[in-house]
Amino acid sequence: EIVAQSLVCTHLGCTIAESATGFDCPCHGSQFDEDGNVLTGPAQKPLKTLRVELLEDGTLRLHTKG
Ligand code: FES
Repeated sequence: EIVAQSLVCTHLGCTIAESATGFDCPCHGSQFDEDGNVLTGPAQKPLKTLRVELLEDGTLRLHTKG
């Protein structure tokens, strides 16, 4: 199974970047582990997991909403 993880910070929506421990937000310092769980706030919610669908022709379809 393929899992995609949003790189949008759950605090105020900045784009996060990979770090040694997972992901860091450059805007207000939130940190997330590799699974998207909050390590350090101000973010309170984990990163959003996005559904990925493998189509018969090999195309990956990413569901960015719900
Ligand atoms: Fe990421 Fe504020 S937008 S910590």
